[in-house]
Amino acid sequence: MRRGVDLFFLLHGDHPTLPAGEVRAILEAEGFSYRVKEGLPQVLRCKVIRSCVPAISKRAYMTRLCAEEILVAEDEPTEILRGLEEAFASGRVEVQGSFSVSLRRVRRSAQDIDLKVLRQRLVNLISSRTGAEVDLEHPGTRFIGLFSGDLFLFGRVLTEISSKRLSERRPSRRPFFHPTALHPKLAGCMVNLTRASPGDLLLDPFCGSGSIPIEAGLLGCKVLGSDIQPLMVRGSRVNLLHYGVRDFHLLLADARKLPFAEVDAIATDPPYGRSATTMGVPTKNLLEDFLHSAAEVLERGGYLCTASPTELGLADLGRGAGLKVVESHIILVHGSLTRELVVFRRG
Ligand SMILES: C[S@@+](CC[C@H](N)C(=O)[O-])C[C@H]1O[C@@H](n2cnc3c(N)ncnc32)[C@H](O)[C@@H]1O
Repeated sequence: MRRGVDLFFLLHGDHPTLPAGEVRAILEAEGFSYRVKEGLPQVLRCKVIRSCVPAISKRAYMTRLCAEEILVAEDEPTEILRGLEEAFASGRVEVQGSFSVSLRRVRRSAQDIDLKVLRQRLVNLISSRTGAEVDLEHPGTRFIGLFSGDLFLFGRVLTEISSKRLSERRPSRRPFFHPTALHPKLAGCMVNLTRASPGDLLLDPFCGSGSIPIEAGLLGCKVLGSDIQPLMVRGSRVNLLHYGVRDFHLLLADARKLPFAEVDAIATDPPYGRSATTMGVPTKNLLEDFLHSAAEVLERGGYLCTASPTELGLADLGRGAGLKVVESHIILVHGSLTRELVVFRRG
């Protein structure tokens, strides 16, 4: 941390808390100590060592970019320009060859500011101070300015993360399709929330068509998957092989009596009797029995990430099984369904 720098992460806007939780979980999984400085709409500001960036680039499903902070100012053009002048004066701005500047508003912030005009003024200032030229195609240094809440953050982009890589893994593109399948974005985020690292053994005991095992396998985890329906176990196998995951074991098992010795992490999406079957077991009983069994199988200090409809009180059910609640996120699925995603830790 002594060598930490100020970074900010631009997060996906489709969930208010999960993307920041995912960044923190990745930093913890990879052993980077960090300090959260501030959470703004769609932005997380942290003090952390710069070498965490490749791990974020590789693992994050809900982050758009990461930048090294140069300036934080009120969202007012004269303040912004004055702040950038000061940043030059104190040697905090460097340009390697050419540069580009892009500006974005998070949600509807700073509506009264003309971004084109401000961008040109920032470009003029950087050019005049450094003599560097603008190159929008292949800039040596990319600057980003973000308006979020009532602040403006300006920084040097360290990585941009495209979601395009996920499109080939979305449920409709898999050889075995099931309507209950999770999108890779949520499946991968759940894997990250377990703080699993490559080489760890991760279990999904309601594996369905394999969404979570696929993302865990691509991260480099050893994967264990099980389901009570033979069709799902077969389908998961087909999907895992299709995406090149090889280090996995799948079996037919009831998640209420898990036949495993010890696993490092559990990420799973249990059924709740609407589109996915509970095989006639009341959902709350199924969850309770699963959580008790999971608490025996999970190694001490290991994390479990799972979700259920809010009214079932998942966090309390987990506590009843002896697990500690680390974090909880509410997901609005549609008008009549809200889910709670909880991360537990075995003490
Ligand atoms: C919501 S689906 C999982 C979907 C999966 N995450 C995916 O993306 O394809 C729930 C799964 O739990 C399985 N299931 C139901 N009761 C079970 C039990 N007692 N033990 C293990 N699996 C069970 C169902 O067969 C179903 O495949």
